[in-house]
Amino acid sequence: MSTRIDSGQQIERPLQLDIENFTPVKGGQNYTRKEGLILVLPFRFVVNIVELLMVEHVSLRLHFQFARKTVNWDSIYDVEEFVRVCHAKIEDEVVFPKLQKSLKDTDRENHLRNLSRLEADHRLIGTIGEQIRLRTTQGNDMETLRKRILLYATTVESHNASEESLIFPYWNESGDDLNEVIPSAMQIVREYGLNRYFQITGISERLLELVT
Ligand SMILES: [Fe+2]
Ligand SMILES: [Fe+2]
Repeated sequence: MSTRIDSGQQIERPLQLDIENFTPVKGGQNYTRKEGLILVLPFRFVVNIVELLMVEHVSLRLHFQFARKTVNWDSIYDVEEFVRVCHAKIEDEVVFPKLQKSLKDTDRENHLRNLSRLEADHRLIGTIGEQIRLRTTQGNDMETLRKRILLYATTVESHNASEESLIFPYWNESGDDLNEVIPSAMQIVREYGLNRYFQITGISERLLELVT
């Protein structure tokens, strides 16, 4: 069976799209139907590790925005643990080392400097996070705690923006097989805890399955 599209080109009608059982094909095209026409959309139904990290950045930004708006920072301890034990750990142990090895362009020295700055940011974020955790156990000086939490949020947000502008765009440029890092990254997510991961990031199990 075929369907006429605007160009007059005849295309085979794809099997009815069953999104629940859809198998993504890397670099392939997916089909959807709109107003009786079959449109071919250039979507890639796969996500690489850096794109997943950027979705996590969105989740973090939303956590911080909600906390600022409601003046309720109860989630900061869960967020801090997620950043330390999962998100930054994937960057430090998996993504940054792979980038260090695979960056090949002419501005390599500059990128390596940016990477070490971002690693230093992680150490600073870890230190502020630790101060927040320790202050909690001591349970005094709420004003200092409030200031540190706000500092934590702005530092993480600014750091994430730097990653997205300075280094993540170069992930795909090396030509290396970057997918080989996925098992190590997923191992860190599993060690952190899948259910906690889904809860704190808002990322669905289905999306995580698409990380390749
Ligand atoms: Fe980071
Ligand atoms: Fe990040």
